[in-house]
Amino acid sequence: MKQRLGLIAVALWLVTAVAMAVVFVRGNTAPGSDGRTALLLQESERNFVLAEMRSLLVANRTITAALAAGDAAQVAKAARAVGMAEAHDRAPSLLAKLPLDFKRLAMAMHGGFDGLAAEAEAGAPMPALTARLLEQLDRCIACHEGFRIDTPR
Ligand code: HEC
Repeated sequence: MKQRLGLIAVALWLVTAVAMAVVFVRGNTAPGSDGRTALLLQESERNFVLAEMRSLLVANRTITAALAAGDAAQVAKAARAVGMAEAHDRAPSLLAKLPLDFKRLAMAMHGGFDGLAAEAEAGAPMPALTARLLEQLDRCIACHEGFRIDTPR
């Protein structure tokens, strides 16, 4: 009897562990109407993510302007501002809803901005820095191609 209970406990633990792993990988998602994966978020969470997105666009604009002006210090400053240090999420419940692929793409992008900042600080020539920014834009594009945000009622 005791052994039975032990087995049941282990089985329940396993089910929970697997369920948590599935949530970690899949997040809270559904197939979107346009073929992309839809993140299912509350309106406030969607607003939070989109506000962060708009600041990424502004950062890209700032970096592009600095590249055009040949100002490496400004490139580094603007890139660092959207690097990993900015990625630690202020909303853990939101983080749990994001699928693993999405988090990977987001981390690669934030890490890439740190890489760009480091190269600018190390005195890399402007064309090399521009090529780095281009890689970053490809990351924006890759994620937008794969994901959208829906707010179910
Ligand atoms: C990890 C995924 C991911 C990455 C990386 C990413 N985005 Fe986004 N972005 C999204 C999603 C999802 C949306 C919502 C799209 C939708 O619902 O159609 C979005 C929306 C946006 C929007 C629209 C904001 C609004 O108010 O409607 C802008 C602007 C934007 N992203 C800019 C960027 C820029 C610039 C980069 C790269 C520096 C970037 N994003 C990188 C996932 C990403």
